[in-house]
Amino acid sequence: MNPHSTQANLQGIRQACRIAATVLHRMVEATAVGVTTYDLDQLAKRELAAMGASSACFNYNPRGSLNPYPAYTCISVNEAVVHGIPSLHKVLKEGDVVSLDVVVDFEGCIGDNATTVVLGKVPSAVKKLVDSTREALNLAIACARDGNRVGDISHAVESYLRKQGLGIVRDFVGHGVGASMHEEPQIPNFGRARTGPRLKAGMTLAIEPMVTLGSHKIEFLPDGWTAVTRDRKPAAHFEHTVLVTEGEPEILTIPEI
Ligand code: MF3
Ligand code: CO
Repeated sequence: MNPHSTQANLQGIRQACRIAATVLHRMVEATAVGVTTYDLDQLAKRELAAMGASSACFNYNPRGSLNPYPAYTCISVNEAVVHGIPSLHKVLKEGDVVSLDVVVDFEGCIGDNATTVVLGKVPSAVKKLVDSTREALNLAIACARDGNRVGDISHAVESYLRKQGLGIVRDFVGHGVGASMHEEPQIPNFGRARTGPRLKAGMTLAIEPMVTLGSHKIEFLPDGWTAVTRDRKPAAHFEHTVLVTEGEPEILTIPEI
């Protein structure tokens, strides 16, 4: 959120974030072998309605195209990086890497979060991919402090992931949230420290490293939404919405359980 925005308020964003995290948590609990990604999306739809919220993804159409986003959440399996469209034909199986992304609209305020889970046994390289992406997000959040710059977050993510030898997706970025899903500033997952816009107390930022086991290059499936790795190696995605304060960053996407 831009602190000068009048349309969204921090109280509303807090609630949207709590709902987003709670729905994400319930989806994680339901993620299992034999379940379809459609089942998980429908679960999210029901939970959102029960909490008086709606999906900010459904019908999302940023460029006014003929292809608005057709589902309530994004579920991106294995080589899918982000914006995977849930499907009745996508039955989860042992070894899958499942990224779940929930963006909530509660009374005109947005909350955005994502996580990646693996089903059963996976190769150690895949486990490292997922653990390193989670750690990159934690390192990034630690930089979300009043007076720091966006580049400090970007640099923290990039330098850590480079050391791990993992690919950093460059085609999507983190972002401010407020009355709309994608507000200023953009938060790339690569960049130089002490550069970019300055962070101010009151900003609400969705920070979201998207990381690959092979090349960082992506392409889109014919559905126009699903971003997959070109080499079809797996990817992971973790995201929290965070409030910048005068002191410690506050993670807003904490579930109510
Ligand atoms: N967390 C994703 C993002 O920030 C959610 C996109 S919703 C969709 O881009 F509608 F584009 F799928
Ligand atoms: Co986001």
